[in-house]
Amino acid sequence: MDEVGVIIPAAGSGTRMGTSLNKQFLMLKGVPVLVHTARIFQSSEFVREIVIVGAREEIPMIRELVARYKLSKVQDIAPGGATRQESVTSGLNALHSDAKRVVVHDGARPLLPLALLHRFLGAAEGTVAALMAVEPKDTITRIDANGWVVETPAREELRAVQTPQVFDRLILREAHRRAAVEGFAGTDDATLVEWLGYPVKVLEGSPENIKLTTPEDLLLAEQILAGRDGDINF
Ligand code: C5P
Repeated sequence: MDEVGVIIPAAGSGTRMGTSLNKQFLMLKGVPVLVHTARIFQSSEFVREIVIVGAREEIPMIRELVARYKLSKVQDIAPGGATRQESVTSGLNALHSDAKRVVVHDGARPLLPLALLHRFLGAAEGTVAALMAVEPKDTITRIDANGWVVETPAREELRAVQTPQVFDRLILREAHRRAAVEGFAGTDDATLVEWLGYPVKVLEGSPENIKLTTPEDLLLAEQILAGRDGDINF
């Protein structure tokens, strides 16, 4: 399998977590969430380089964590932007390597199992873009501005989209460039590549690969980790 470059956007704020501390610095089993996330990629033989994207004022703290936890593949810590999209653009610009493929993974998703990452990267080979997703547990409905149901697609046809997402690096760069020029905003990177007209492959994710958003998520994460043997992520 080809080596990949990895971008970890971690420049969001903790508003929904009800804390002024960025949720990525909260502790999970005594280790900051962001370190859990970075360790997944640090330990993968397919990862050549990691770029973490952090809020400007948090970059010194991230630099300290990178040194303390010996995250030797972290080549750069890039300054984040006002939106996730801008943060990933900044990460793309900071990548040193010319790896053909780039993975984007939320800093706030520390529970991705390494084996699942590898299965995902293998299955995504040969695609321009691929994402990890799960079937939603709830029925999802489309509503109008007044709160009335417009339509309710069958659940089997819907997916809740997660990260990691993997891309041909040059095509993702082009998607970010064009989106910035034309003012297109997407909630993730696959949306930008889709908007540019490329096919995006959907691969099976895991319900354990949660994004830590609210305080309850942190409790759930502790429980998921407690149920795993040995080292935290594996
Ligand atoms: O806000 P949301 O939970 O969707 O963020 C997903 C990931 O993107 C988080 O890891 C967050 O830190 C990151 N992010 C970022 N820059 C922003 C907003 C979010 O790097 N401006």
